[in-house]
Amino acid sequence: MTFHIITIFPEIIRPYFSKGVIGMGREKGLFDLKIYNLREFTTDKHRKVDDTPYGGGPGMVMKVEPIFNCIQAIKDSLAKKEKSLVILTSARGKVFNQKKAKKLVDKYQHLIFICGRYEGVDQRVAEFVADKEFSIGKYVLSGGELAALVMTDVCARLIEGVLGNEESLISESYNQEEFDYPVYTKPEQFKNWLVPKVLLGGNHGEIKKWRDKHRVQKN
Ligand SMILES: C[S@@+](CC[C@H](N)C(=O)[O-])C[C@H]1O[C@@H](n2cnc3c(N)ncnc32)[C@H](O)[C@@H]1O
Repeated sequence: MTFHIITIFPEIIRPYFSKGVIGMGREKGLFDLKIYNLREFTTDKHRKVDDTPYGGGPGMVMKVEPIFNCIQAIKDSLAKKEKSLVILTSARGKVFNQKKAKKLVDKYQHLIFICGRYEGVDQRVAEFVADKEFSIGKYVLSGGELAALVMTDVCARLIEGVLGNEESLISESYNQEEFDYPVYTKPEQFKNWLVPKVLLGGNHGEIKKWRDKHRVQKN
């Protein structure tokens, strides 16, 4: 799997992919990340990626041409038989979730994310360039970079080998019908807050019973 991220702020994306399980997964070559600076796909001397909205109104709108040029360049670089999907990050899109992530990981070799900024992206990108429009929640971010990072992180965890211990993936919340169980570590007592006794006893049957009982949602 290769994640392609199109942004005007490449420096926001890079550090995230150098740390933790995601960083290690990339280092091991379990997936690849390519970041594209949108300004490099402009054709004017000012490298303009935005302009004023038709019909008036506040703020600036991201232009369709550089985004189209970038997507074309990415698609031209892919092998013919590889499947790719272009995702526009958008507060108005369908809300992304674990199920959608699993489908994408199973089906595509390339996920291409477009990060919007300003007042948003020229609607022709949603209509003619992107295949899907995804939101990461019902709120407005300043840009699509966080959304692209959230979605790539969720997908990357599902790639075989990325999590050191595959068991974590099986028991994780949202990968099954139930939520993950609460976890504790040393010390047994901090202030007067105690770890449940059953977890200290080594009775695996009882531990399983306790964990199953506590797989509950908080909201
Ligand atoms: C300031 S927002 C634009 C918001 C737009 N004017 C609106 O009200 O829907 C700039 C960019 O951030 C990204 N964005 C904002 N909220 C998002 C969300 N909840 N999920 C995904 N991307 C989001 C999109 O790429 C968007 O084009």
